[in-house]
Amino acid sequence: MTRIIEGLIGIHDILPGKTGQWHFIESTARKVFESFGYSEIRTPIIERTELFARSIGESTDIVEKEMYTFTDKGGRSCTLRPEATAGIVRAILEHHLDSSEHTSRLYCFGPMFRYERPSKERYRQFYQIDVECFGNPGPAVDAEIIFMAMHFFKELEIRNCSPHINSLGCPECRTAFRESLSKYMSGVRERLCPDCRRRLETNPLRFFDCKNCTDLTRQAPLISEFLCAHCKEHFEGVRKYLEMLQIPYVVNPRIVRGLDYYTRTIFEIVSERLGTQKAILGGGRYDGLVAQLGGKDIPGIGFAIGTERLSYMIERPEERFESKPRIFVASLGDEAGKLGFKLANDLRTRGIQAVVNYNRASLKSQMRRAHKMDARYVLILGDNEIRSGEVVLRDMQRQSEEKIPLKGILDAVIMQCRS
Ligand code: HAM
Repeated sequence: MTRIIEGLIGIHDILPGKTGQWHFIESTARKVFESFGYSEIRTPIIERTELFARSIGESTDIVEKEMYTFTDKGGRSCTLRPEATAGIVRAILEHHLDSSEHTSRLYCFGPMFRYERPSKERYRQFYQIDVECFGNPGPAVDAEIIFMAMHFFKELEIRNCSPHINSLGCPECRTAFRESLSKYMSGVRERLCPDCRRRLETNPLRFFDCKNCTDLTRQAPLISEFLCAHCKEHFEGVRKYLEMLQIPYVVNPRIVRGLDYYTRTIFEIVSERLGTQKAILGGGRYDGLVAQLGGKDIPGIGFAIGTERLSYMIERPEERFESKPRIFVASLGDEAGKLGFKLANDLRTRGIQAVVNYNRASLKSQMRRAHKMDARYVLILGDNEIRSGEVVLRDMQRQSEEKIPLKGILDAVIMQCRS
C-alpha cells in the first residue's frame, strides 16, 4: 500500500467538529471589536524578512531562531509572518492610512508561523486574533484595550483569568535599567546559560524570557525601579483607569515580553489551565514602532490572542457549536429516492440545512442516521406514500408525526422547518 504523507510536525489541522467553535470565537471577536470601533484588515502571511528583523528585533528568539525564512525565485529574502503587528504597520504606511481616523483601530485573524519546539498548545503554525490601535498616547486607551480583551473573554464565558501588567518604560528609562541589569548579569556570568551569556552582549532584557535561568531572573533588578516620572505617571494612569472599569489586575514586574518594539505598558493574560509559561494573550504599547518602520511618530498599542489556546479555555462542549441538519430526507424505493433528492436540494436553496439518503438503506437505519446527526425533522418518502399523495414528516424532538400532501410539499416543509 502507498504510504500516506503526514503533515509537518507542529502544524495541525482544524477539523470539522472544532470549526464550529472557531466560528463562534471569530464572530464574537468581530462583534466585540466592532462595537469598540475596530475594522478588519487582512494582510499577507508572507513579508520581506527585513520587516520583522527591524520591528521585532534582531536579537529576539523569534528573529534569531524561529522564523520560516527562505529566498524566493527573485532572490528576495521572505519570511512567513511570526506575528501580525509588523505587517499591519507596514500596510498602513504603504497605503498612507496613518492619518485616517477610520483606520486607527484594526483587527485581524490568521495563521502565524514560528519554528518553536512543539508542545501542548504550542504549534509551529498557530492562529492569532490580533488588535491594534494607533494614534493615542494616553493611558486611557491602554486600560480600554485590556477592558475590551476581558469583555471578549467574558462573552466567550472564559473566567478565572486576569491581566498581568507591567511598564517597560521609555528608551531613557531602559538605558539606565539595561546598565544595571548588565552589571547584575556580569556578576553571575558563570551561572548564566550559554544563550544568556550571549544575550548579555546583545540584548540583556531578553534574559527575563529565559526558561533556563529563572532562579537568576528572580533576583535581578526590575524595570519598575528605573521608570522616569512620565512613565511612572502613565502607568499609574493605566492602573486608575483599569480600576475605574472594574478590571482586577496583577502588577507583575518580571514581564518583559519577547519582542523588542514595546514601550511603557505591557500585559499578558495567563491561566493555570495552560500553565504560567503559556500566555493566552500578550500585548503592549509600541510608541516608537511606526517611526522605526519609516512612518510618522504615531503611538500604538495592541494585543494578540492565540486562537488554539483560547479554544482550549472554552468549557462548553465542542459539539454545541456544530450546526445540525434541520431535516433528514429519508426515502424507500426509486421514485421516492428521486423525489427526495430533488426536494432536499430545493430545501437547501431556501436556506434549510437538509441531508438526503443516497443509498438503499432500510428505514430503520436511515432513522438511526437522522437521530445520530440530531436532525430535528425526518421526511419519510416511500413509493407507496407517493402513490397515495401523502408523506410523513416526523418531529424528532416532540416525537410526533403528521401527514403532508405531496401537492405543495416544498412550501409546507419549509413552513414547518422554520417554525
Ligand atoms: P506574542 O506574545 O508573541 O505577541 O503572541 C501572542 C499570543 O499568541 C500568545 O499569548 C499565544 O497565545 C499565541 N502564541 C504565540 N506563539 C504561539 C505558538 N507557538 N503556538 C500557539 N500559540 C502561540 C505577539 O505576537 C504580538 N504581536 C502581540 C501584539 C499585538 N502586541 C502588540 N500588538
